[in-house]
Amino acid sequence: MIYLDNSATTKPYQEVVETYAKVASTYFGNPSSLHSLGMQAEGLVTESRSRIANILGVKAKEIIFTSGGTEGNNIAIKGTAWAKKSRGKHLITTQVEHASVAEAFAQLEQDGFEVTYLPVDHAGRINVMQLEAAIRPDTTLVSIIHVNNETGTIQPIHEVGKLLEKFPHLLFHVDDVQGITKVPLNIREARIDLCSCSAHKFHGMKGNGFLFVREGVRVNSLLHGGEQENQLRAGTENVAGIVSMAKALRIASEQKSHDKKLVSLRERLITQLTSIEGIVINSPSYDVAPHIVNFSIPGTKPEVVVQSLTAKEVYVSTKSACSSKLSAPSRVLSAMGLSEERASSGIRVSFSYETTQQEIDRFIAELKVIIPELREVINS
Ligand SMILES: Cc1ncc(COP(=O)(O)O)c(C=O)c1O
Repeated sequence: MIYLDNSATTKPYQEVVETYAKVASTYFGNPSSLHSLGMQAEGLVTESRSRIANILGVKAKEIIFTSGGTEGNNIAIKGTAWAKKSRGKHLITTQVEHASVAEAFAQLEQDGFEVTYLPVDHAGRINVMQLEAAIRPDTTLVSIIHVNNETGTIQPIHEVGKLLEKFPHLLFHVDDVQGITKVPLNIREARIDLCSCSAHKFHGMKGNGFLFVREGVRVNSLLHGGEQENQLRAGTENVAGIVSMAKALRIASEQKSHDKKLVSLRERLITQLTSIEGIVINSPSYDVAPHIVNFSIPGTKPEVVVQSLTAKEVYVSTKSACSSKLSAPSRVLSAMGLSEERASSGIRVSFSYETTQQEIDRFIAELKVIIPELREVINS
């Protein structure tokens, strides 16, 4: 099989699966228990927190373990909006966020908050001057995705952080689920207050993630019933998931030295795609993550393309995994100003460090067979 859907999820590293199994079967105590088995489990959680914090260059107490990106985004956005509501109820985000951010803001709108959704240009990027113009005295939070999950577009996070130095009362949240281990981001230098990450996007297990919360930032908890995670996330910790996530983060961060390989795979794919009649590339050509390519085949249904490739054991996506079952045009491609036909026919290919040139070539070969067949069916 050829797996080109790494933005939906990655295959866990073998070492990660082994660590998970070992911790789950040997260190199964509850970290809150006072006996030695509990203390051993707590020790593993503490050590994993320090390891993750060291890799990110932050303090251990600033790492809150979550169940993944969706939960991290919800805690960061709703938790800070509610914590700061006496100061103001205006929030800023973009039109190209993941559903877990977009829908958290939609919920807050229903609860009486006002949200500005920044537009993006043809490359899917916001304009920092437009962000500055949108800031009001009652704005409390700015939330911006780092790497877009559909197109790979990188937002100017460092520039935004620089701008926000002028507004010290404003909190800055970044969804870095697609960027971490692939596109560098210095949390401190970018003046980020909250940053969400998810283990299964960097070869960890599903159902694990972490949220960076800068020391001193007040966040209301969404879950109650326990003192865990600095009272921010009640519930018994997923010890095996946490330990294996720290391992996955270390291995994936070390693999970053292979970035050039991803860049050359991406170039190879784009050159070959553009040689196929009718295919248009939707991802931008600069300031883009090395592992995501989005393109449209106008005149075909992307679900049918995905299914035809599946029959050949080649796996790609339409839109993001969370919205791929909806047949509406992509919200992200539409915000970039693409036509309805193009925004409705996007296909996303996403690599990992394990993807090879041969796999890209075979994907292209299969696509070249499928497209004329699909066009024939549609035109007949
Ligand atoms: C940019 C982005 N944010 C958040 C999420 C949600 O992460 P999780 O699947 O861990 O809940 C995803 C998952 O696709 C994503 O791509």
